[in-house]
Amino acid sequence: MKILFTEDRKNQAAIEKVAKLSNSIYSQKGEGPFYHIHTFGCQMNDHDSERMAALLELMGYEYTEDETRASLILLNTCAIREHAEERVYGFIGRLKSLKENDLIIGVCGCMVQQKHVLDKIKKSYPYVDMVFGTHNYYQLPIYLLKALEGEKSISVLEDSPRIVEELPAIRASKISAFVNIMEGCNNFCTYCVVPYTRGREKSRLPEDIIKEVKGLVEEGTREITLLGQNVNSYGRGLEEEVDFPELLNRLNEIECLYRIRFMTSHPKDLSDRLIEAMKLEKMAPSFHLPVQSGSTRVLKMMNRKYTREDYLDKVYKLRQALPHIGLTTDIIVGFPGEELEDLEATISLIEEVGYDSAFTFIYSKRLGTPAAGYEDKLDYEEKHRRFDRMLGKLNEIVIEKNHSRLGQVFEVLVEEETEAGIYQGRTPQGFLVRFPGSREDLGQLRDVKITRTKNFSLEGEICH
Ligand code: 5AD
Ligand code: SF4
Repeated sequence: MKILFTEDRKNQAAIEKVAKLSNSIYSQKGEGPFYHIHTFGCQMNDHDSERMAALLELMGYEYTEDETRASLILLNTCAIREHAEERVYGFIGRLKSLKENDLIIGVCGCMVQQKHVLDKIKKSYPYVDMVFGTHNYYQLPIYLLKALEGEKSISVLEDSPRIVEELPAIRASKISAFVNIMEGCNNFCTYCVVPYTRGREKSRLPEDIIKEVKGLVEEGTREITLLGQNVNSYGRGLEEEVDFPELLNRLNEIECLYRIRFMTSHPKDLSDRLIEAMKLEKMAPSFHLPVQSGSTRVLKMMNRKYTREDYLDKVYKLRQALPHIGLTTDIIVGFPGEELEDLEATISLIEEVGYDSAFTFIYSKRLGTPAAGYEDKLDYEEKHRRFDRMLGKLNEIVIEKNHSRLGQVFEVLVEEETEAGIYQGRTPQGFLVRFPGSREDLGQLRDVKITRTKNFSLEGEICH
């Protein structure tokens, strides 16, 4: 079920009222009001923040990097690991000293979807003005209006069957943009809090996605990254029979779009049809395929629904279809019950696949997830030792692969100027390269020869 952003009357009325208020502040002070958003976590959160930024600008707020100038500070939080949560609490704590000026503080995102977090915010941080969750962040204008009128709001929905369409966004990059294709997750990996914070899986209609992408391309976007917790299961529950490969086929037809990427995929749903779709003209040959562990025993405890062999088989098929594909993954070390032989299995899988890079994590116990109830005999030091061993092997491989790119030529989509005269973009495989360039290169595909490799980065020159 979808609703149009413009059809939420109460929210639209709040936008008008806040805009009037901010306009009067502007005319008195000649500047502002300013907002600052601090985003923790994944690309989903980054994109939600892009949407909230657009809502705020619609209401006359201006962005500031400087928290001390801001009239409104929003923390868009992440719950995936304990460490992420602690950083947020630290941040909220620090904001107290700024609260004396008329600062409004809002906390939103995944963390506040959990009851124990809401209780802690109410008890320990009573100066927070607005708390709202992942399913209703688009109603930020309503909460902001209340806050300006001196009223606090705490509004968190457990889940929502609705997808909100036509929300504006202010995107970090014009050339390479995020596009949500689905929300939520039904997989319930035993360590993961996401199904509880982002709710059940729901897909956007293909026509809404295509309309958004066409609109972006008209404004100069050349690359899109399709976002979802498990893009491979896109389309389940939609009336029209359309799956992820079919969506890719349709997006591939859009003129002036150069590249399509996506994240994240679940290995259990990586179909032969998707591997076939990877050969489409605009599909970037790069694949993020989180393995989590190389041990079938641990994968079973994680409820991942594939074995080590299933995973390696899919990697083999991907490489057969696209020999130069860039492969990345997520790995968790120290899952409850992990034995040394399980760690060995993860390390040997890393060697066998030869990843181009990986996100690596030490298992973090998340309240309310099944794994939180598993017996965990490993102490902190042992988890760190194991993590360092795994990372040592991974880095060896990643660094060696990176150095082997010296002298190679890649087609790079030029995305941004990072310092005077130095531009940055990605190869089709997703490797970031920096090189001297000019404004005319922005948004263009350029052949770049790698002239210098560092351990984890590449530098090059445009071939003329
Ligand atoms: N502990 C450690 N890592 C986790 N991830 C998800 N939940 C946890 C957890 N409880 C990692 C997984 C996932 C990535 C986004 O975060 O590797 O793929
Ligand atoms: Fe979490 Fe698993 Fe869903 Fe990924 S697929 S969001 S790890 S439950």
